[in-house]
Amino acid sequence: MARKYYVETFGCQMNHHDSERIAGLLEHDGYEAAADETTADLVVLNTCSVRERAEEKLYSRLGEIRLATAARADEVAIAVTGCVAQQEGDKLLRRAPYINAIAGTQSLKQIPALVRDAVERGRTRIDIDPHEDVSFPLGVARPSDPARAWITIIEGCNEFCSFCVVPYTRGTERMRPVADILAEAREAARTGHVEVQLLGQIVNHYQAPDDAGCDFAELLARVHAISGIQRIRFASPHPRHVTEQLVAAIRDLPKVCKHLHLPVQSGSTRVLQAMRRRYTRETYLDGVARLRDAIPGIEISTDIIVGFPGETDADFEATMDLVRTVNFQSIYSFKYSVRPNTLAMKRMPDDVMEGEKTRRIVALQALQREIQTANHTRMIGTRHDVLVDAGSRRRSWELAGRTFGNTIVNFPGPAEWLGRIVPVRITDAAPNSVRGEALISAPVEAAHAG
Ligand code: 5AD
Ligand code: SF4
Repeated sequence: MARKYYVETFGCQMNHHDSERIAGLLEHDGYEAAADETTADLVVLNTCSVRERAEEKLYSRLGEIRLATAARADEVAIAVTGCVAQQEGDKLLRRAPYINAIAGTQSLKQIPALVRDAVERGRTRIDIDPHEDVSFPLGVARPSDPARAWITIIEGCNEFCSFCVVPYTRGTERMRPVADILAEAREAARTGHVEVQLLGQIVNHYQAPDDAGCDFAELLARVHAISGIQRIRFASPHPRHVTEQLVAAIRDLPKVCKHLHLPVQSGSTRVLQAMRRRYTRETYLDGVARLRDAIPGIEISTDIIVGFPGETDADFEATMDLVRTVNFQSIYSFKYSVRPNTLAMKRMPDDVMEGEKTRRIVALQALQREIQTANHTRMIGTRHDVLVDAGSRRRSWELAGRTFGNTIVNFPGPAEWLGRIVPVRITDAAPNSVRGEALISAPVEAAHAG
């Protein structure tokens, strides 16, 4: 009987895509997917360390998995990969000595061999070396989404924002060859994916190592030319590189979604300087204005940290004011947490009290909820093309998808529409999504009974 694997992912889209790669590598090695840890012979935890809470989740999940597999402890291998693996290395064994393999962010391709070796030799194998190689064999990653294919274009980051652990866990910035990226995009189209998402810490830094004439805007144009692909998204651009070429590429390429995730982090120039973001409140707002002038209706979402060291009431109010001014489509908000190795950890005391961080994040989220409810209410009666990416877990006749501007739409429809773009009229608004009804009819044979 084939050995079974189960991969659990924490954190960002980059990690989710790495898990698709890990799954593909293991299947090439003869493994089959298991539904959860109880039936798996190999459990892989792909971890995140961007914030303290994400890291804590690893330890609680390790404990649960240990319990769930206690009866088969000798037969089940546990591997830890991703950012915590990279950061902690063999220190992970102090809290969880039963881990069999530890593979850092740049050691994905080594995972099958590490696990094999660990099982054969009966001792933990660790690889957290920085492998400079950014190649990954075509067609190996196992797609987890019927509609969307993720494609990594840049690994690592050289930006060293003072709060951020990523440059330490994912290493220096390395560009993938444009030839590899386009081959993956063609493969995504061939396998029926209508949307591709280009991933990198700062996508708009992209410069092809194998073609001097290919920067990020040109890459968008080349992916755009692939037939079969109907939508292109990317995450995340850096606010200090909202160049004319980038604005023009989003404006002129019809498949590029009119939505930009542009992490601002704070609305106070003083805090932005301490964060080493290298833009000001004014230049951020200027970038937003240029985008909106050139591309009417473009949606902008963002990330915000509250309670960064030294953040005063006035700084926080500046963030609230920026949120009101920009009218973001959505916000991911976080309480600041100290991360190992970072400049903020070394130089800036974590001096905003926990209670105050909570007060600020609650106020920010309440404001954003009002903004989203108002924006969603304005959508009622309008028509949108929705890419269906999920069925509802609770109701078989319920679909979910996203508009071109990235708003989540729930509407009734048959499972056959998964992975398709369906025209929908919006009928109701809620803070985090809207409801609608399809403007085409379901295939007759799919109409459900009951
Ligand atoms: N504390 C809180 N939030 C953080 N982020 C990154 N590092 C930290 C930290 N130390 C947030 C930023 C980033 C997002 C992915 O996570 O907002 O854009
Ligand atoms: Fe972290 Fe800044 Fe790099 Fe983003 S740009 S990954 S926040 S260091």
